[in-house]
Amino acid sequence: MTNISEHDSPILVTGAAGAVGAIGRNVTSMLLAQGHHVRAMVRREDARADDLRRLGAEVVVGDLTDLASVHRAVESCKRIYFGMSVSAAYLEATVNMAVVARHHGVEAVVNMSQMTVSQMSITETTDSPQHKLHWLAEQALSWSGLPMVTIRPTVFLEGFFQVLAAAGVRDRDALVLPLGDGRTAPISAVDVARAVAVVLDDPAPHIGRIYNLTGKESADLVHFANVFSEVLGRTITYRDAPVDAWTDKLREAGFPEHLLAHFAAMARLHQQGRYDRMTDDFTRLTGRVPTSMHEFVQAHATEFTRPTTAA
Ligand SMILES: NC(=O)c1ccc[n+]([C@@H]2O[C@H](COP(=O)([O-])OP(=O)(O)OC[C@H]3O[C@@H](n4cnc5c(N)ncnc54)[C@H](OP(=O)(O)O)[C@@H]3O)[C@@H](O)[C@H]2O)c1
Repeated sequence: MTNISEHDSPILVTGAAGAVGAIGRNVTSMLLAQGHHVRAMVRREDARADDLRRLGAEVVVGDLTDLASVHRAVESCKRIYFGMSVSAAYLEATVNMAVVARHHGVEAVVNMSQMTVSQMSITETTDSPQHKLHWLAEQALSWSGLPMVTIRPTVFLEGFFQVLAAAGVRDRDALVLPLGDGRTAPISAVDVARAVAVVLDDPAPHIGRIYNLTGKESADLVHFANVFSEVLGRTITYRDAPVDAWTDKLREAGFPEHLLAHFAAMARLHQQGRYDRMTDDFTRLTGRVPTSMHEFVQAHATEFTRPTTAA
């Protein structure tokens, strides 16, 4: 760990309220536990902002698409974690952050991206609008000349395997996902936060690096359904959902079109085997073994289990 007294300027963490992976929220608590001063940026004043204050963070409220908010957030910070929810405004927010961080001459910006970007180029893209925005954002950040560290995780356990699958497992004993028979190596977003916190604690050796983060094992969904069965003590079956029908259900539930297009592209890339990738970047960065599916299901077992009714 660095000498914290040398760094009394706060570390800025954006997207700190957390909704899906809650990387910002986890990075905030990890850095506070290490004794850092953290400025947590949230979009609105709510109970989550109060929780961050209770943890010891300085909270700044603002919108990353608004330059004045970004100025207020970055002012006097030397190190920044930049990430926010998957959204059509991602590139605008990134460039706002880049111009303001350049203005303030920061010492490190850790940018959240996605692993698929490592397979993209000016001639190779995917059907996901979010992949394209992340690719363009990485280009712009690289032109900015800022001291960058790029984090490219694969799919999060907390997204596809929790937010999008918990109800099916709980109510129908089915892991319903449109991933075909593709193999995948999902990573826990808590592990991603651990990697980000390691970098922000002492960024100098990481400047200019790109970290591709995967989970503990790459396997197909039949294997992962068996892990669910083992941990939960009842049979969970993988049901390969047709992509269009699956996204239609999410549309009915109110998911925005940008996110649906991203999910559909991710599903098709899974079916083509594009998520069957393993790296050891996480272990090299943190010295830890990634969270396994077994540990993940165990930790969230209540969400995957029907409540027992009192006799
Ligand atoms: N999910 C995956 O499988 C996966 C895999 C690889 C990479 N990633 C990347 O991880 C990032 C998402 O991280 P996450 O899951 O930790 O995010 P998250 O839990 O969804 O939290 C993101 C936060 O960003 C805030 N936010 C959204 N728009 C904002 C704006 N305009 N101004 C200020 N704040 C804003 C949201 O605020 P509110 O809560 O108030 O809306 C939310 O609290 C994205 O870059 C995504 O591409 C995700």
